[in-house]
Amino acid sequence: MASHEIFEKNSIVLAIAIVLVVSIAGLVEIVPLYFIGSTIEKVDGMRPYTPLELAGRDVYVREGCYLCHSQMIRPFRDEVERYGHYSLAAESMYDHPFQWGSKRTGPDLARVGKKYSDKWHRDHMNDPRSIVPESVMPGYEFLGKTPVIADRYSNHLWALSVTGVPYSQDMISNAGADLKAQAGDPDSDAAEALQARYKSFGSKPLNVRDFDGDPKTVTELDALIAYLQMLGTLVDFKTYNAKANLR
Ligand code: HEC
Repeated sequence: MASHEIFEKNSIVLAIAIVLVVSIAGLVEIVPLYFIGSTIEKVDGMRPYTPLELAGRDVYVREGCYLCHSQMIRPFRDEVERYGHYSLAAESMYDHPFQWGSKRTGPDLARVGKKYSDKWHRDHMNDPRSIVPESVMPGYEFLGKTPVIADRYSNHLWALSVTGVPYSQDMISNAGADLKAQAGDPDSDAAEALQARYKSFGSKPLNVRDFDGDPKTVTELDALIAYLQMLGTLVDFKTYNAKANLR
């Protein structure tokens, strides 16, 4: 007990001792993370967003869709029955920042891709109550009237590449052209060049079409629908067992 006296009578020594003890616990948790190759399991089919999808994701973040919608299906039976396979860490590995959300006023959107037609999304985004009369979601009619500024996407892809998203120099330089190509004619040369560029990730062919029903202008609605239609469609879950590991 005598050796303990120094801690009880001297608050500075006590504070230093507390810091020492607490930091040992911290080091035990943090240090191993630097020595394992990756904390995220690799999953086939994952690829970084195309410039158009990224523009749609920017709209999603700007409009605060994450305040009402999550993108994170938890490994519980009720969630998997409703939304599909629970979310994998790899599915948000290229998200900066991730869009898991923390509140569901509307449903989870992690697997909303291909669930509805583009026209459904157009009508729903313009006026949600024309589709779901009791919906409390706001309308976003202006998105279909606001052109996307394609030129800024080279810088956007470059900035993401600095954080570790594997965009090639070719993808960065051609981001503006790729953005326009994805919302245009799927048989054009520009669309073929876009497909060829993103094929290198070993993922499925991209959705290339006019998403907003207005072939003349690439609008924020094109971008947002391109983003929504891709969500949750990259990984082929036929090869995973959705009911395994459920709680
Ligand atoms: C005030 C909360 C709120 C905000 C903000 C909001 N939503 Fe919703 N959303 C809802 C609700 C409630 C529903 C369910 C009723 C309906 O379909 O309209 C819904 C439904 C949806 C659906 C259909 C999902 C499904 O599986 O049926 C999509 C897609 C969607 N929202 C996208 C968006 C996008 C994109 C934004 C941002 C531009 C957004 N929402 C902003 C509340 C919101």
